[in-house]
Amino acid sequence: MNVTVAVTGASGAVLAQQLLRALEADARVSGVDFVASESALRVIAEELHLSGRHELLEKLLGGATKKTHPHAEQDIGASIASGSYPSAGMIVLPCSMGTLAGIANGMAANLIERAADVCLKERRPLLLCVRETPFNKIHLRNMQLAADAGATIFPVIPAFYNEPATTADMVRNFVDRVLAHFGLPQPNAYVWKPGAGE
Ligand SMILES: Cc1cc2nc3c(=O)[nH]c(=O)nc-3n(C[C@H](O)[C@H](O)[C@H](O)COP(=O)(O)O)c2cc1C
Repeated sequence: MNVTVAVTGASGAVLAQQLLRALEADARVSGVDFVASESALRVIAEELHLSGRHELLEKLLGGATKKTHPHAEQDIGASIASGSYPSAGMIVLPCSMGTLAGIANGMAANLIERAADVCLKERRPLLLCVRETPFNKIHLRNMQLAADAGATIFPVIPAFYNEPATTADMVRNFVDRVLAHFGLPQPNAYVWKPGAGE
């Protein structure tokens, strides 16, 4: 399957990095179409100290890519802008309130919003991993709009019941949950066992 991954300018660049690495390593995935917004590049530089548009993907992956194809945010003629391209769906991680607004209101003003719009019209999975706190009413309304149109609101909220010892554990657990929801359960993902913490 081909999976589309968009990274926007919300906090949580490390989550996007983990997602891209997991997809790159997953034999069930034949291709990953990757788009980062201009703001995402700024946040990635702030949070991961990685910069340089051209080598960014390799830096995020920690090596050369075998199947991840980068697209420019303004390339509205890219493959994923068309419903005829066989994408299995799209994950926006992290999803800023700005991009949420654009998707929820059908703006299709850049490749990320257009590819998301295509997922909704083609009834393909669209996971919006929104990140902001607190939410204002505009954010809440836009989440409702997007959910009504078929998107899954999958907020960046960590779990604690798995007793994560490190930030890396939290990141891995969140990405595992995202991928399981997308139909790509990960082999070593934590699974809740009732009574395990007693
Ligand atoms: C370091 C940093 C962290 C940010 N974190 C968030 C965030 O968590 N959520 C959010 O909605 N916007 C956040 N922003 C603001 C967005 O980057 C900004 O609204 C931007 O216009 C979003 O553009 P995009 O949706 O095209 O990526 C952050 C900006 C910076 C520089």
